[in-house]
Amino acid sequence: MKPVSSLRETAPPPPTHVGIIMDGNGRWAQGRGRPRIEGHRRGMETVREVVKGSIEQGIEYLTLYGFSIENWKRPAAEISSLMGLLRLYLRQEIKELDQQGVRMRFIGQRSLLANDIVSLIEEAEEQTKNNTALNLVVALSYGARQEITAAAQSVARQVAAGELDVSTIDESVISEYLETAGMPDPDLVIRTSGEQRISNFLLWQVAYAELVFTDTLWPDFSREDLREAINEFHRRERRYGATG
Ligand code: FPP
Repeated sequence: MKPVSSLRETAPPPPTHVGIIMDGNGRWAQGRGRPRIEGHRRGMETVREVVKGSIEQGIEYLTLYGFSIENWKRPAAEISSLMGLLRLYLRQEIKELDQQGVRMRFIGQRSLLANDIVSLIEEAEEQTKNNTALNLVVALSYGARQEITAAAQSVARQVAAGELDVSTIDESVISEYLETAGMPDPDLVIRTSGEQRISNFLLWQVAYAELVFTDTLWPDFSREDLREAINEFHRRERRYGATG
């Protein structure tokens, strides 16, 4: 048997950036005859576990799809409960996340969020800005098409102002205008609950990501499931369009 130190040396590096579409909270609750918010509450506990698991695994960026721009179409009562949970998370967890060395960032349309939530988000970003153990990016009120549209508008404005030459616009320029500017693209995207869709999540950035779909509902997703998804990622051969 190989000594542990040698096993460690041969272990493949973890994906640098993992994105997760957390799905199935509602079904988890309904399956137990409980209100949907109960599923979201359990889903929040899963977030806690997965953050710890990501640090353990050496992941540098974890992006969680917390609330999509399309989620604004849900019944007002559910939106209000979700926002309540988010407030709770931002108030209660920041201290521990900070102690764990987590840097928090948020992407999505802040103008649609309540002012107090925007303040909590800004405080969380400010308080944790020097942390390096894990970058936790929460997509809130986020839609990738809207993000790309806003980037196109910014680029067009720069061109119109004579500050940008059309011939210099390449993929890296577009990336700089996205909310994820400066972050690596996700290597792995996990979606829970058996659905196999991207649902307007980081469309530009996931161009070459490996997609792992699991039937597990988000409240049941564990650190072990994260490890299993990473093992699946390692079994894939990433060719970026080239031959093997
Ligand atoms: C999808 O389940 C989940 C959401 C829309 C919200 C995710 C929110 C949390 C995990 C709570 C806390 C979040 C953060 C970032 C602190 P669904 O309601 O669509 O489930 P269903 O498809 O079974 O109905």
